[in-house]
Amino acid sequence: MRHYHVAVVPGDGIGQEVTPEGVRVLDSVGTTAGYTIQWDYFPWGCEYYLQTGRMMPEDGLKTLEQFDAIYFGAVGFPTVPDHVSLRGLRLPICQGFEQYVCLRPSLLLPGIESPLANKKAGDIDFVVVRENTEGEYSGAGGRAHRGLPIEVATETSVFTRAGVERVIRYAYELSKSRRKRLVNATKSNAQQYAMTFWDEVCEEVGRDFPDVTTERVLIDALAARFVLRPESLDVVVGSNLFGDILTDLGAAVCGSMGLAPSGNINPERDYPSMFEPVHGSAPDIFGKGIANPIAMIWCGAMMIDFLGEKEASALILSAIKSVTRTGKPLTPDLGGTAGTAEVAAAVIAEARRISR
Ligand code: NAI
Ligand code: MG
Repeated sequence: MRHYHVAVVPGDGIGQEVTPEGVRVLDSVGTTAGYTIQWDYFPWGCEYYLQTGRMMPEDGLKTLEQFDAIYFGAVGFPTVPDHVSLRGLRLPICQGFEQYVCLRPSLLLPGIESPLANKKAGDIDFVVVRENTEGEYSGAGGRAHRGLPIEVATETSVFTRAGVERVIRYAYELSKSRRKRLVNATKSNAQQYAMTFWDEVCEEVGRDFPDVTTERVLIDALAARFVLRPESLDVVVGSNLFGDILTDLGAAVCGSMGLAPSGNINPERDYPSMFEPVHGSAPDIFGKGIANPIAMIWCGAMMIDFLGEKEASALILSAIKSVTRTGKPLTPDLGGTAGTAEVAAAVIAEARRISR
């Protein structure tokens, strides 16, 4: 038996509904795959903030540091301003743990209807590698003259050579293991300092990967291409903001926000990596028990893959595909009528059937 120690932060809204289902799936698959996970729960999030004035305790990172990984639901609720909740929990973890790769696959699953016409399973199959520790979300900036007519606000993008290089190198390495085509998402026509710098670093790193074809695409045109020709994409690398926006689009063209997984990865493994769905806390459906758990379950598959459980991870993805292929059961975001727990139970049953 292999043993892992994982910190669970369900967070807010539907994070609290989908996280337990993901845990259930990982535990169930572990019994046959030969691993166990010790889960330690942390009730951090907006409710915790309203009680304590903090999204997580001051020594939160120190507490998390000892774990093999973090399994994270979502953060943010209408009771707390979004910039407070995000900057109090998710961003400090990503930045403090050098999770500089945000890895977001977009795969059109069997049985799922894309809002784009005539797309069948597998036609859309790309990965966005989003820079995850600096760029537009570096936190540099300020506000002055509050409330006065001369009020001013700055939000400074910060791009460091080390920060840009490491994420681009990761994207190239990933391209090598896929279809060897990398798209560099940029905006160097209008952003003449940071983005020309980004492009230069991309070119430099690209020289180490002569068998990967690189395309430089302006982010606005790239957004259109996500809709018009998603099958032309394999690996896309972009800054924090660009990657954030593109991956909601990636989730949408693959059928639902409720299907899109994400990993915040520290490739050197100096710190734990964190796995969380692309979606947020979905306050509009929270409490109804209808949130789609598939994104969260898929995050669990990414997490155990990262921990070395390749076969079990592949099994979970096969089980997810088997459920979407038959369409039984599906949650309302995919046109079904099932609840969160029912879908997770079906994934567990399929995993058992396949591994038998
Ligand atoms: P959202 O992703 O929570 O919801 C967008 C839409 O997708 C909603 O209509 C929602 O019902 C639907 N949706 C999302 N996940 C779903 C699922 N699993 N099953 C079915 N439908 C699903 O984004 P929104 O509404 O912009 O943000 C809500 C809150 O979440 C805000 O406080 C925001 O700051 C936070 N947020 C947190 C993120 C994180 O924790 N990484 C990411 C995005 C938003
Ligand atoms: Mg986002």
